[in-house]
Amino acid sequence: MYTGERSDAPEQPSHVAIIMDGNGRWAESRGLPRLQGHKRGADRVREIVEACPDLAITHLTLFAFSTENWKRPPSEVIGLMRLFRRYIKKEGARLVAEGVRVRFIGGREALDADLRALMAGLEMQTAGNDQLHLTVAINYGGRDEILRATRRVAEAVRAGRLLATEISPEVIERHLDTAGLPDPDLILRTSGEFRVSGFLPWQSAYSEFAFVDTRWPDFTAEIFAAQVRGFARRERRFGAVAG
Ligand code: FPP
Repeated sequence: MYTGERSDAPEQPSHVAIIMDGNGRWAESRGLPRLQGHKRGADRVREIVEACPDLAITHLTLFAFSTENWKRPPSEVIGLMRLFRRYIKKEGARLVAEGVRVRFIGGREALDADLRALMAGLEMQTAGNDQLHLTVAINYGGRDEILRATRRVAEAVRAGRLLATEISPEVIERHLDTAGLPDPDLILRTSGEFRVSGFLPWQSAYSEFAFVDTRWPDFTAEIFAAQVRGFARRERRFGAVAG
């Protein structure tokens, strides 16, 4: 959520967003097919989701598939899509029971109809939950999200529902896929790369970043907790001076 204000710092991160990187390298370094790394990565998703309540994390956002990931070999893309289906079918009931609210962000039209239906079904089933807000980015790219939001804002102006002078950060935010979600406090990337790959560019304007060497399939709840504790020691100023 856009506030542009200084918050009380230091604090516990309540929204953590993760770029789950390194599945392929994890598998290749063991002589395994890359998909084995993704499968192991899916197991980590469960572990990290379950770790959130104890860490007072109320929002977890995961980058599962980017708009660039379609360029991977078809077998890997198909395997990942199969993994998303399986995750929803296998974990869906547990997420419902544990009070997790699931949302998906990203362009859906490029996804198969059956996967889209599973995603919409889980969103509906969990709509009343609020123990943890789990947002999964599939076919997500930050530029693509901002482009789609801009088109919707332009359409509102064209239709006379909005004046161009009324376009504010709040208006843009309401048209993003993440409308209604708070901005991430901490963005974490695994596997040692120092880049953000188009993940939440609008929403991360005031986020802290953490880059860890561990590959996602080896990323445990303990490592997660250590990163969260490290965040709590930082002081966030949101452009203001220390008080
Ligand atoms: C990046 O590793 C990871 C992905 C592109 C896929 C992330 C997907 C999962 C963790 C599986 C399941 C997810 C959910 C939400 C059920 P990479 O393949 O880019 O690794 P590399 O950089 O080592 O090649």
